[in-house]
Amino acid sequence: MDAVRIYGGKCLEGQTTIQGSKNASLPILAATLLIEGTCEIENCPEISDVYHMLRLLKSLGCKVEREGTLVRVNTEKLSECDMPSDSVGVMRSSIMLLGALLARTGRVCMEYPGGCVIGQRPINLHLQSLRKMGVVIEENETEFCAEAAKLKGAVLNLPFVSVGVTENAILTAVLAEGETIIKPAAREPEIQALCEFLQCAGAKIEGSGSDCLTIRGVNRLYPARYRIPADRIVAGTYLSACMCAGGRVFLRDAPVHHMESVLTRAVEMGAAIDYEADGILVTGRDHRAVCHTLSTGCYPAFPTDMQSPFMVIMALSDQGGSIEETVFENRFRIVPELCRMGADITVHGNTAYISSSKLHGAIVQAEELRGGAALVIAALAAEGTSIVTNRHYIDRGYEDIVLSLRQLGASLELA
Ligand code: UD1
Repeated sequence: MDAVRIYGGKCLEGQTTIQGSKNASLPILAATLLIEGTCEIENCPEISDVYHMLRLLKSLGCKVEREGTLVRVNTEKLSECDMPSDSVGVMRSSIMLLGALLARTGRVCMEYPGGCVIGQRPINLHLQSLRKMGVVIEENETEFCAEAAKLKGAVLNLPFVSVGVTENAILTAVLAEGETIIKPAAREPEIQALCEFLQCAGAKIEGSGSDCLTIRGVNRLYPARYRIPADRIVAGTYLSACMCAGGRVFLRDAPVHHMESVLTRAVEMGAAIDYEADGILVTGRDHRAVCHTLSTGCYPAFPTDMQSPFMVIMALSDQGGSIEETVFENRFRIVPELCRMGADITVHGNTAYISSSKLHGAIVQAEELRGGAALVIAALAAEGTSIVTNRHYIDRGYEDIVLSLRQLGASLELA
C-alpha cells in the first residue's frame, strides 16, 4: 500500500483547504528547544516529516502533545539521549536541531542528515558557520560531534544563499553572546515565519525578509504560541494539477502573498486566477501557443520546489519549453518517469528541454517528494490509468494528497 492509482483524463472541479507549511513547521519545532516551558504551534501539518521531527524532539526528552494540527512541546527536561538514526537519516531538517541543541546543551553528536535525493546537499556551510560562532566540531565518515562552552555572535559572510544555513545560524545566534550578522540571508517566507515565532518568544532579530539579518543574543526566551502559515508549495501543486487536468478549483487559504512568482508564471502559461478574501479560484488549461522558459532561484524567484509540477504543465502545453535548475544539481529525476508516460524531455547540464506531448497512463516511481507529487499530477492529465509507487516520499510533505485531489474532483485511490 505504498502507491497511488490515478484514473486520468478527468477535469477538476471542487475546493480544498491548504495545509500548514512543512518548511515553516520544521525549523519552528526545532526552535522550541531554545525555550524552557511549553510552546503551542498551531496549524502544524500532519505529514511524515513533522512526525519524524516530533519523534526526534521526544527522543531528546521533550514532552510532545498533539491534538490534530495543534502541537504542544515542553522542553523543560531535556535528556542526553541519542537521536533515533532512522529519523535523522530520512530528514535533512534534523540538521536544524544542531544550532538549537548546542544553545541548550552545549554538545551534540549526530549522524549526517538525509532528505530528498535532489543533489549532494552537503552540510559544509552549516558547520563552517557554527565554527565561526565558537563551536568545535569533530567529524568522521558517518557522524560528527559539535561542542561549545559558549556560543558567540559572529559576522557570517556566506558564499551563497542557503535556506537551511540561514535558519540554523538564526537558531544558534538568538541565545549566543553578542551580535550575529547573516549575509546574504535567505528571504524565504519560512525564514520570516521562524523569525516571527522567535520574536514572539523574545528574540531580537532585525531585517527579517531582507538579505541581511542582525541578531542580538538574549539571555532567555519565553514560551510562545504561533500559527504556521499555509504551505505555498502545496498550494502551487494543486494549482498545477488544475492547469494540467483542466477545470476550476478553489484553494482556500492559499498564501498568495508568498506565491507571486508562481502565480505570475501560471497566468503567463494560461491559467486564470481570481483572488478572493479566503483563497484563490484557479481556472486551468487555456494553453497559450508560446514556448515557455523558466529558471529556478532563491525567493522571491521561482521556487525549485515547484519546478517538477511546472515541467508537467510545460509538457502538456502547445509549444513545450525549457527549465533551468539553479539551486539543486540533481533535480530532474522525474524526467525518465515522465518519458514513460509519453513525455519528450531531454536534459543538458542544468537545463531540461520539454517538447509538447500527450501523456498516457503508466506505472511510475516517485524518487523524491515534489517529483512524486508532480507524477500524480501528470497522471491526472494522462489518458488511462497510472500507478505512482513510493508514495511515502509524497507523504513527507502532503497531508493526504489522495483526499485533497478527490476534493478537487480527481479520481484516484491508494494502491
Ligand atoms: C530548503 C527546503 C527545500 C528547498 C530548498 C531551496 C526545508 C526543510 N527545505 O532546503 O524544500 O527546496 O530550501 O529552496 O526548508 N548547500 C551547500 N552546503 C551547505 C548547505 C547547502 O552546498 O552546507 C547547497 C545545497 O546543496 C543546495 C543549495 O546550497 O545546492 C541550497 O540549499 P539550501 O537552501 O540549503 O536548501 P535546504 O535548506 O536543504
